[in-house]
Amino acid sequence: MKQAPQDTKGFTVLLAGAGRMGGAMLRGWLASCMPPSNIVVQEPHLTADMAALLAQHGIQGRMPESASFDVIVLAMKPQAMPEALGQLSPLAGPQTLVLSIAAGRTIASIAEHFHPGTAIIRAMPNLPAEIGLGITAACANPYVSVTQQQFCKILLGAIGELVWIAEENHIDAVTAISGSGPAYVFHLTECLTAAGEAQGLDAALAGKLARATVTGSAELLRQSLATPGALRENVTSPSGTTAAALEVLMAEDGLASLMQRAVSAAAARSRQLSG
Ligand SMILES: NC(=O)c1ccc[n+]([C@@H]2O[C@H](COP(=O)([O-])OP(=O)(O)OC[C@H]3O[C@@H](n4cnc5c(N)ncnc54)[C@H](OP(=O)(O)O)[C@@H]3O)[C@@H](O)[C@H]2O)c1
Repeated sequence: MKQAPQDTKGFTVLLAGAGRMGGAMLRGWLASCMPPSNIVVQEPHLTADMAALLAQHGIQGRMPESASFDVIVLAMKPQAMPEALGQLSPLAGPQTLVLSIAAGRTIASIAEHFHPGTAIIRAMPNLPAEIGLGITAACANPYVSVTQQQFCKILLGAIGELVWIAEENHIDAVTAISGSGPAYVFHLTECLTAAGEAQGLDAALAGKLARATVTGSAELLRQSLATPGALRENVTSPSGTTAAALEVLMAEDGLASLMQRAVSAAAARSRQLSG
Protein backbone atom coordinates (compact mmCIF):
# COMPACT_ATOMS: atom_id res chain seq x y z
CA MET A 1 0.00 0.00 0.00
CA LYS A 2 1.29 3.46 -1.00
CA GLN A 3 2.14 5.91 1.81
CA ALA A 4 0.99 9.52 1.36
CA PRO A 5 2.57 12.24 3.49
CA GLN A 6 -0.75 13.91 4.11
CA ASP A 7 -2.59 14.92 7.24
CA THR A 8 -6.04 13.40 7.68
CA LYS A 9 -7.34 16.67 9.15
CA GLY A 10 -8.96 19.22 6.87
CA PHE A 11 -9.15 17.14 3.72
CA THR A 12 -11.41 18.36 0.94
CA VAL A 13 -14.34 16.35 -0.42
CA LEU A 14 -16.45 16.59 -3.54
CA LEU A 15 -19.73 14.74 -3.04
CA ALA A 16 -21.17 13.90 -6.45
CA GLY A 17 -24.80 12.88 -5.97
CA ALA A 18 -26.75 14.10 -2.95
CA GLY A 19 -29.75 11.75 -3.13
CA ARG A 20 -30.77 9.28 -0.48
CA MET A 21 -27.35 7.78 0.29
CA GLY A 22 -25.24 10.83 -0.60
CA GLY A 23 -27.55 12.95 1.59
CA ALA A 24 -27.20 10.47 4.48
CA MET A 25 -23.42 10.67 4.16
CA LEU A 26 -23.43 14.46 4.08
CA ARG A 27 -25.62 14.64 7.19
CA GLY A 28 -23.29 12.15 8.92
CA TRP A 29 -20.23 14.25 8.02
CA LEU A 30 -21.83 17.43 9.33
CA ALA A 31 -22.95 15.65 12.52
CA SER A 32 -19.39 14.40 13.03
CA CYS A 33 -18.09 17.97 12.82
CA MET A 34 -16.39 17.78 9.44
CA PRO A 35 -15.77 21.41 8.41
CA PRO A 36 -18.48 22.40 5.86
CA SER A 37 -15.94 24.64 4.11
CA ASN A 38 -14.08 21.48 3.03
CA ILE A 39 -17.15 20.01 1.29
CA VAL A 40 -18.50 20.75 -2.18
CA VAL A 41 -21.70 19.08 -3.41
CA GLN A 42 -22.35 18.38 -7.07
CA GLU A 43 -26.01 17.45 -7.62
CA PRO A 44 -28.00 18.32 -10.77
CA HIS A 45 -31.40 18.37 -9.05
CA LEU A 46 -31.14 19.55 -5.46
CA THR A 47 -34.24 18.86 -3.36
CA ALA A 48 -35.54 21.78 -1.30
CA ASP A 49 -34.36 20.03 1.89
CA MET A 50 -30.86 19.51 0.52
CA ALA A 51 -30.66 23.08 -0.81
CA ALA A 52 -31.66 24.34 2.67
CA LEU A 53 -29.02 22.11 4.32
CA LEU A 54 -26.31 23.40 1.99
CA ALA A 55 -27.37 27.02 2.57
CA GLN A 56 -27.50 26.51 6.35
CA HIS A 57 -23.89 25.28 6.39
CA GLY A 58 -22.61 27.50 3.60
CA ILE A 59 -21.69 24.50 1.46
CA GLN A 60 -20.96 25.19 -2.18
CA GLY A 61 -23.59 23.37 -4.27
CA ARG A 62 -22.22 23.57 -7.79
CA MET A 63 -19.44 22.02 -9.79
CA PRO A 64 -16.18 23.96 -9.46
CA GLU A 65 -14.58 24.74 -12.81
CA SER A 66 -11.19 23.59 -11.70
CA ALA A 67 -10.06 22.19 -8.41
CA SER A 68 -8.33 19.14 -7.10
CA PHE A 69 -10.04 17.36 -4.24
CA ASP A 70 -8.53 14.97 -1.72
CA VAL A 71 -11.61 12.77 -2.09
CA ILE A 72 -14.28 12.55 -4.80
CA VAL A 73 -17.28 10.55 -3.57
CA LEU A 74 -19.36 8.96 -6.33
CA ALA A 75 -22.90 8.67 -4.94
CA MET A 76 -25.04 8.90 -8.05
CA LYS A 77 -27.04 6.00 -9.52
CA PRO A 78 -24.83 3.53 -11.42
CA GLN A 79 -26.50 4.40 -14.75
CA ALA A 80 -25.56 8.09 -14.30
CA MET A 81 -21.89 7.24 -13.70
CA PRO A 82 -20.41 7.15 -17.20
CA GLU A 83 -21.59 10.68 -17.97
CA ALA A 84 -20.77 11.96 -14.49
CA LEU A 85 -17.25 10.53 -14.60
CA GLY A 86 -16.54 12.45 -17.79
CA GLN A 87 -17.26 15.69 -15.87
CA LEU A 88 -15.55 14.65 -12.66
CA SER A 89 -12.27 13.17 -13.86
CA PRO A 90 -10.66 16.59 -14.55
CA LEU A 91 -11.20 17.38 -10.85
CA ALA A 92 -8.94 14.52 -9.75
CA GLY A 93 -5.27 15.19 -9.15
CA PRO A 94 -2.50 12.70 -8.35
CA GLN A 95 -3.41 12.83 -4.61
CA THR A 96 -7.15 12.31 -5.15
CA LEU A 97 -8.97 9.31 -3.72
CA VAL A 98 -12.05 8.26 -5.69
CA LEU A 99 -14.58 6.65 -3.34
CA SER A 100 -17.50 4.98 -5.11
CA ILE A 101 -20.63 3.67 -3.41
CA ALA A 102 -22.36 2.78 -6.69
CA ALA A 103 -23.71 -0.76 -6.89
CA GLY A 104 -22.33 -2.87 -9.71
CA ARG A 105 -19.55 -0.51 -10.82
CA THR A 106 -16.17 -2.23 -10.60
CA ILE A 107 -12.91 -0.53 -9.66
CA ALA A 108 -11.61 -1.33 -13.18
CA SER A 109 -14.60 0.36 -14.86
CA ILE A 110 -14.12 3.49 -12.71
CA ALA A 111 -10.35 3.51 -13.26
CA GLU A 112 -10.88 3.80 -17.03
CA HIS A 113 -11.99 7.41 -16.49
CA PHE A 114 -9.00 8.52 -14.39
CA HIS A 115 -5.21 8.74 -14.73
CA PRO A 116 -3.40 5.41 -14.37
CA GLY A 117 -2.47 4.87 -10.73
CA THR A 118 -5.50 6.73 -9.31
CA ALA A 119 -6.46 5.56 -5.81
CA ILE A 120 -9.96 4.05 -5.89
CA ILE A 121 -12.12 2.53 -3.16
CA ARG A 122 -15.33 0.71 -3.96
CA ALA A 123 -17.74 0.57 -1.06
CA MET A 124 -21.18 -0.82 -0.38
CA PRO A 125 -23.12 0.96 2.40
CA ASN A 126 -26.65 0.13 3.46
CA LEU A 127 -29.87 1.96 4.28
CA PRO A 128 -29.52 2.28 8.10
CA ALA A 129 -26.75 4.76 7.20
CA GLU A 130 -29.62 7.26 7.24
CA ILE A 131 -29.69 6.98 11.05
CA GLY A 132 -25.95 6.42 11.52
CA LEU A 133 -26.41 2.66 11.97
CA GLY A 134 -25.26 1.46 8.57
CA ILE A 135 -22.54 -1.00 7.79
CA THR A 136 -20.26 -0.48 4.81
CA ALA A 137 -17.85 -2.97 3.27
CA ALA A 138 -15.02 -1.38 1.30
CA CYS A 139 -12.34 -2.64 -1.03
CA ALA A 140 -9.26 -0.58 -2.00
CA ASN A 141 -7.08 -0.80 -5.10
CA PRO A 142 -3.28 -1.01 -4.59
CA TYR A 143 -2.81 2.76 -5.08
CA VAL A 144 -4.77 3.68 -1.94
CA SER A 145 -2.46 5.02 0.79
CA VAL A 146 -2.86 4.51 4.52
CA THR A 147 -3.86 8.18 4.79
CA GLN A 148 -6.50 7.75 2.10
CA GLN A 149 -7.83 4.70 3.97
CA GLN A 150 -8.12 7.01 6.97
CA PHE A 151 -10.11 9.53 4.89
CA CYS A 152 -12.43 6.70 3.91
CA LYS A 153 -12.76 5.58 7.54
CA ILE A 154 -13.73 9.12 8.55
CA LEU A 155 -16.25 9.51 5.69
CA LEU A 156 -17.89 6.10 6.01
CA GLY A 157 -17.51 5.86 9.80
CA ALA A 158 -19.84 8.88 9.99
CA ILE A 159 -22.74 6.67 8.80
CA GLY A 160 -22.01 3.52 10.80
CA GLU A 161 -19.49 0.69 10.85
CA LEU A 162 -16.83 0.06 8.22
CA VAL A 163 -15.29 -3.29 7.32
CA TRP A 164 -12.55 -3.84 4.73
CA ILE A 165 -12.64 -6.68 2.24
CA ALA A 166 -9.54 -7.82 0.39
CA GLU A 167 -11.25 -9.30 -2.66
CA GLU A 168 -13.44 -7.08 -4.80
CA ASN A 169 -15.55 -10.00 -6.02
CA HIS A 170 -16.83 -10.46 -2.44
CA ILE A 171 -18.79 -7.22 -2.96
CA ASP A 172 -21.51 -9.28 -4.66
CA ALA A 173 -22.00 -11.33 -1.49
CA VAL A 174 -21.82 -8.18 0.64
CA THR A 175 -24.48 -6.57 -1.56
CA ALA A 176 -26.66 -9.66 -1.12
CA ILE A 177 -26.30 -9.64 2.69
CA SER A 178 -26.00 -6.11 4.04
CA GLY A 179 -26.76 -3.99 0.94
CA SER A 180 -30.09 -5.64 0.18
CA GLY A 181 -30.56 -7.06 3.71
CA PRO A 182 -32.65 -4.20 5.16
CA ALA A 183 -35.37 -5.06 2.60
CA TYR A 184 -35.38 -8.68 3.85
CA VAL A 185 -35.97 -7.46 7.40
CA PHE A 186 -38.76 -5.16 6.23
CA HIS A 187 -40.33 -8.08 4.39
CA LEU A 188 -40.03 -10.27 7.48
CA THR A 189 -42.02 -7.56 9.30
CA GLU A 190 -44.66 -7.62 6.57
CA CYS A 191 -44.90 -11.43 6.78
CA LEU A 192 -45.22 -11.37 10.58
CA THR A 193 -47.99 -8.76 10.24
CA ALA A 194 -49.85 -10.87 7.67
CA ALA A 195 -49.51 -13.96 9.88
CA GLY A 196 -50.97 -11.97 12.81
CA GLU A 197 -53.93 -10.97 10.64
CA ALA A 198 -54.42 -14.60 9.60
CA GLN A 199 -54.71 -15.41 13.34
CA GLY A 200 -57.60 -12.92 13.65
CA LEU A 201 -55.83 -9.73 14.79
CA ASP A 202 -56.76 -6.48 13.06
CA ALA A 203 -54.17 -5.11 10.65
CA ALA A 204 -53.17 -2.14 12.82
CA LEU A 205 -52.55 -4.23 15.91
CA ALA A 206 -50.73 -6.96 13.97
CA GLY A 207 -48.56 -4.30 12.31
CA LYS A 208 -47.74 -2.64 15.63
CA LEU A 209 -46.82 -5.95 17.28
CA ALA A 210 -44.67 -7.05 14.32
CA ARG A 211 -42.84 -3.74 13.99
CA ALA A 212 -42.09 -3.42 17.70
CA THR A 213 -40.94 -7.05 17.82
CA VAL A 214 -38.51 -6.60 14.93
CA THR A 215 -37.12 -3.25 16.12
CA GLY A 216 -36.92 -4.35 19.78
CA SER A 217 -35.19 -7.63 18.87
CA ALA A 218 -32.79 -5.78 16.55
CA GLU A 219 -31.86 -3.37 19.34
CA LEU A 220 -31.40 -6.27 21.76
CA LEU A 221 -29.14 -7.98 19.23
CA ARG A 222 -27.18 -4.75 18.82
CA GLN A 223 -26.69 -4.26 22.54
CA SER A 224 -26.04 -7.89 23.46
CA LEU A 225 -22.72 -9.72 23.34
CA ALA A 226 -24.56 -13.04 22.85
CA THR A 227 -24.77 -14.68 19.43
CA PRO A 228 -28.14 -14.62 17.60
CA GLY A 229 -28.30 -18.39 18.19
CA ALA A 230 -27.82 -17.97 21.96
CA LEU A 231 -30.47 -15.23 22.10
CA ARG A 232 -32.87 -17.52 20.22
CA GLU A 233 -32.19 -20.44 22.57
CA ASN A 234 -32.76 -18.19 25.59
CA VAL A 235 -36.37 -17.54 24.55
CA THR A 236 -37.16 -21.09 23.46
CA SER A 237 -38.46 -23.35 26.24
CA PRO A 238 -38.68 -27.04 25.38
CA SER A 239 -42.06 -27.94 23.87
CA GLY A 240 -43.23 -24.33 24.22
CA THR A 241 -44.84 -21.97 21.72
CA THR A 242 -41.56 -20.60 20.31
CA ALA A 243 -40.25 -24.14 19.86
CA ALA A 244 -43.40 -25.02 17.89
CA ALA A 245 -42.80 -22.12 15.48
CA LEU A 246 -39.07 -22.79 15.20
CA GLU A 247 -39.75 -26.41 14.28
CA VAL A 248 -41.42 -25.02 11.15
CA LEU A 249 -38.88 -22.26 10.50
CA MET A 250 -35.87 -24.54 11.07
CA ALA A 251 -37.15 -27.49 9.03
CA GLU A 252 -35.05 -28.65 6.10
CA ASP A 253 -37.07 -26.54 3.67
CA GLY A 254 -37.47 -23.72 6.20
CA LEU A 255 -36.07 -20.22 6.51
CA ALA A 256 -32.38 -21.21 6.21
CA SER A 257 -32.84 -22.74 2.78
CA LEU A 258 -35.15 -19.91 1.67
CA MET A 259 -32.54 -17.35 2.81
CA GLN A 260 -29.76 -19.24 0.98
CA ARG A 261 -31.83 -19.06 -2.21
CA ALA A 262 -32.71 -15.39 -1.74
CA VAL A 263 -29.11 -14.34 -1.03
CA SER A 264 -27.83 -16.44 -3.88
CA ALA A 265 -30.33 -14.74 -6.26
CA ALA A 266 -29.21 -11.29 -5.06
CA ALA A 267 -25.52 -12.15 -5.44
CA ALA A 268 -26.13 -13.55 -8.94
CA ARG A 269 -27.98 -10.36 -9.92
CA SER A 270 -25.15 -8.24 -8.50
CA ARG A 271 -22.60 -10.21 -10.58
CA GLN A 272 -24.81 -9.75 -13.66
CA LEU A 273 -25.05 -5.97 -13.10
CA SER A 274 -21.26 -5.70 -12.70
CA GLY A 275 -20.63 -7.70 -15.85
N1 LIG B 1 -29.91 3.63 -1.17
C1 LIG B 1 -29.24 2.58 -0.71
O1 LIG B 1 -29.66 1.86 0.20
C2 LIG B 1 -27.90 2.24 -1.31
C3 LIG B 1 -27.14 1.21 -0.72
C4 LIG B 1 -25.88 0.93 -1.25
C5 LIG B 1 -25.40 1.63 -2.35
N2 LIG B 1 -26.17 2.60 -2.89
C6 LIG B 1 -25.64 3.30 -4.06
O2 LIG B 1 -25.65 4.67 -3.79
C7 LIG B 1 -25.82 5.37 -5.01
C8 LIG B 1 -26.90 6.40 -4.82
O3 LIG B 1 -28.11 5.72 -4.50
P1 LIG B 1 -29.33 6.52 -3.88
O4 LIG B 1 -30.28 5.54 -3.36
O5 LIG B 1 -28.81 7.61 -2.99
O6 LIG B 1 -29.91 7.16 -5.23
P2 LIG B 1 -30.64 8.54 -5.44
O7 LIG B 1 -31.45 8.88 -4.21
O8 LIG B 1 -31.33 8.46 -6.77
O9 LIG B 1 -29.44 9.58 -5.51
C9 LIG B 1 -28.59 9.70 -6.60
C10 LIG B 1 -28.43 11.19 -6.85
O10 LIG B 1 -27.37 11.41 -7.79
C11 LIG B 1 -27.80 12.46 -8.66
N3 LIG B 1 -27.06 12.50 -9.92
C12 LIG B 1 -27.42 12.04 -11.15
N4 LIG B 1 -26.47 12.32 -12.06
C13 LIG B 1 -25.49 12.99 -11.42
C14 LIG B 1 -24.25 13.57 -11.82
N5 LIG B 1 -23.84 13.52 -13.08
N6 LIG B 1 -23.49 14.16 -10.89
C15 LIG B 1 -23.89 14.22 -9.63
N7 LIG B 1 -25.06 13.72 -9.17
C16 LIG B 1 -25.86 13.09 -10.06
C17 LIG B 1 -29.27 12.15 -8.84
O11 LIG B 1 -29.94 13.27 -9.36
P3 LIG B 1 -31.31 13.00 -10.22
O12 LIG B 1 -32.28 12.41 -9.25
O13 LIG B 1 -31.66 14.32 -10.71
O14 LIG B 1 -30.93 12.02 -11.30
C18 LIG B 1 -29.69 11.81 -7.42
O15 LIG B 1 -30.03 12.93 -6.67
C19 LIG B 1 -26.18 4.36 -6.09
O16 LIG B 1 -25.08 4.18 -6.95
C20 LIG B 1 -26.48 3.12 -5.31
O17 LIG B 1 -26.07 1.97 -6.03
C21 LIG B 1 -27.40 2.94 -2.40
